[in-house]
Amino acid sequence: MTAGQSIAYESMMPTFGFEYKKQPLDFQVLFGNSNPVTLEIGFGMGASLAEQAKIYPNRNFIGIEVHRPGVGALLVRMRDMELTNLRLISHDAVEVLGEMIADNSLSLVQLFFPDPWHKRRHHKRRIVKDEFVRLIRAKLTVGGHYHMATDWENYAQHMLRVMQGAKDWSNCSNSNDYVPKPDDRPVTKFQKRGEGLGHGVWDLMFVKESDSLDM
Ligand SMILES: C[S@@+](CC[C@H](N)C(=O)[O-])C[C@H]1O[C@@H](n2cnc3c(N)ncnc32)[C@H](O)[C@@H]1O
Repeated sequence: MTAGQSIAYESMMPTFGFEYKKQPLDFQVLFGNSNPVTLEIGFGMGASLAEQAKIYPNRNFIGIEVHRPGVGALLVRMRDMELTNLRLISHDAVEVLGEMIADNSLSLVQLFFPDPWHKRRHHKRRIVKDEFVRLIRAKLTVGGHYHMATDWENYAQHMLRVMQGAKDWSNCSNSNDYVPKPDDRPVTKFQKRGEGLGHGVWDLMFVKESDSLDM
C-alpha cells in the first residue's frame, strides 16, 4: 500500500469497512437506510465502483476485494468524493456472500473482469461455476440482477454456459447471449487494459425469476 492508502485504511475502515464475521449483516444498521443494495465482487482499485456510488446516491454499495491496496485506494477516492453510500471488506467474496449476506437481500451483484485464468489447466480456478451462481441467486431478491463482464471470449462463453445450465434465471439479452454494455457500468481499469491488448468485451445480465428454489 502507498502511505496514503495505508492512512486511509487505518482511519476509514472503522467507519466505511466491516470485518469478516460468520454473522449476517443488517443493511439498515450498516447504511442507516433501507435503499437497495448493489454488491461488487473484486472491484480492483475501485474507480468504477466509486463512480457508480457518486452517480447513484439513493443506492447502497458493498465492495469486496481481497487486494488490500485496492481497498485503500477506494477509501482515498471515497474521502475525496465524499461518498457515504459505500461499504468495503477485504476478504474472500465467496465466504462473505455465504456467511454475511442474508438470502433475498441484494438488488444487483456485479462481477466485472474477474481473473480469467486463461490457461486451460487453470480454468477450474475461475470464480464463475455452478455453486457460485447458486450462491449469487440465493442472495438476490426476486427480480434482482446479476451482471458479469469479461474481456476474454472463452470466459464469456463459459459464463454463458454456466448460466444456461442454472435454474430460475432469465437472460436480459435479446439474442439469448450477451447484452450491450449498460450505460450505468463505467469502463473499468481491466476493461481498458483488455482493450489495449486488442480484446473484445462481453457483458452478461441475468434476472432472478422467482423464489421457487429457496425452500
Ligand atoms: C482482473 S481484476 C478486475 C478488477 C476490476 N473489477 C476491474 O475490472 O478493473 C480481478 C480482481 O478480483 C479480485 N478477486 C479475485 N478473487 C477474489 C475473491 N475471491 N474475493 C474478492 N476479490 C477477489 C482480485 O484481487 C482482483 O483485484
